[in-house]
Amino acid sequence: MHCARIISYLRQTVPGPRRSIACLAALSDTHQMLQKTCRDFADNELFPVAAKIDKEHYYPTELMTKIGDLGLMSIVLSTKYGGTGLDYLAYAIAMEEISRGCASIGVTMSIHNSLYLGVLEKYGTEQQKRNFIPGYIDGRQIGCFALSEPGNGSDAGAASTTAVLSGDRWVLNGTKCWISGGYEAKAGIVFATTDKSLKHKGISAFIVPMDSPGLSRGKNEEKLGIRGTSTCQLIFEDCEIPRDNLIGESGHGFKIAMQSLDAGRIGVAGQALGIAQAALECAVDYAGKRHAFGQPISKFQAIQLKIADMSVKLESARLLTWRAAWLKDNKKSFTKEAAQAKLAASETATFCAHQCMQILGGMGYVSDMPAERYYREARITEIYEGTSEIQRLVIAGQIIKEFR
Ligand code: CAA
Repeated sequence: MHCARIISYLRQTVPGPRRSIACLAALSDTHQMLQKTCRDFADNELFPVAAKIDKEHYYPTELMTKIGDLGLMSIVLSTKYGGTGLDYLAYAIAMEEISRGCASIGVTMSIHNSLYLGVLEKYGTEQQKRNFIPGYIDGRQIGCFALSEPGNGSDAGAASTTAVLSGDRWVLNGTKCWISGGYEAKAGIVFATTDKSLKHKGISAFIVPMDSPGLSRGKNEEKLGIRGTSTCQLIFEDCEIPRDNLIGESGHGFKIAMQSLDAGRIGVAGQALGIAQAALECAVDYAGKRHAFGQPISKFQAIQLKIADMSVKLESARLLTWRAAWLKDNKKSFTKEAAQAKLAASETATFCAHQCMQILGGMGYVSDMPAERYYREARITEIYEGTSEIQRLVIAGQIIKEFR
């Protein structure tokens, strides 16, 4: 494992006041060091500006560079391609800690690592890797992932964006939507059909530079949360890309998308854990300081029950997430476990953010405190990279298959 950038950052970090770090004993020295480094970074650099990023809706270019310098924007990419070369457990841990400080940054980190670099590393040709990886490992440039369309979200196999081979070029036409980081990205993995009658078997994956002729961005969506990254449409009007930009074999795009989303869901689970952990810490801190009926509200059982439920859900979801990462790292099947992790972690984030707001009462509803932001940010983790309903379908489908 190569983590020189993380180690060098750790040496410069002045330790702050510490809270307990869950499951510390179960992690290797490398994972513990990564966890501590990311946690310190989130406390010192992300949490202080997260509310401003949310309020002003801006992409934090400078912070993304710092995150890149820590090695987190290519955390699982092999060192052979200039990445940090850590495993998916490290990725899940880093996603949680970074998202605990700022969930917007978490989503950029997640899409870029698992759905952009992850696709290129696993399925790209050596030429594609040479062209589209080196500039994308340190947070200065990011990639995006364009699967959804206005007419297909959950039904990913129904893509209508077309790709037609014309001489030595592919010509793309159609509209992709809900593209996280679409405005900031310099390149994207784009799915399009070469034969709609073949349904999912007609879908192929392409690597597309964002400055390709015929490609434009649509409206930058106004969102409930994760406002430190853009979400937009990508509009393809006779957009031409080189023939060699096909990723994998023609017609294999749906499987590439599904397998990449399996890995991506571990990242979203990590992001959701970070939001849930932040909400729990906010609630416990407030409950210790806020007095009512002559004592801190943390003395009341009604508050204690909420804190207990939050922590049990959170730690269960964390174990599911780490298990999914461990299975992937050990080259075992993890489709079901990644869906379980994402489902549990995202519903936990929603639950913890709700309970946090309830404990803070009126203070939870106003933007002086981060509780209302956690509440807004948690919701997206149950929607993107497959809704909670889709995760349940994936889980049930896998279980039924296991019993056959
Ligand atoms: N790994 C490998 N192969 C898989 C797979 C997986 N996880 N899941 C399905 N497949 C294969 C199947 O084996 C099958 O293969 P064959 O054709 O060879 O038999 C094929 O794919 C079709 O499978 P299904 O019949 O199960 O496909 P379906 O059309 O019923 O859809 C689905 C299944 C689970 C609903 C899928 O469409 C899905 O996951 N939908 C959600 C899409 C999603 O997550 N979108 C998020 C967009 S990306 C995003 O949010 C990023 C962002 O910017 C924030």
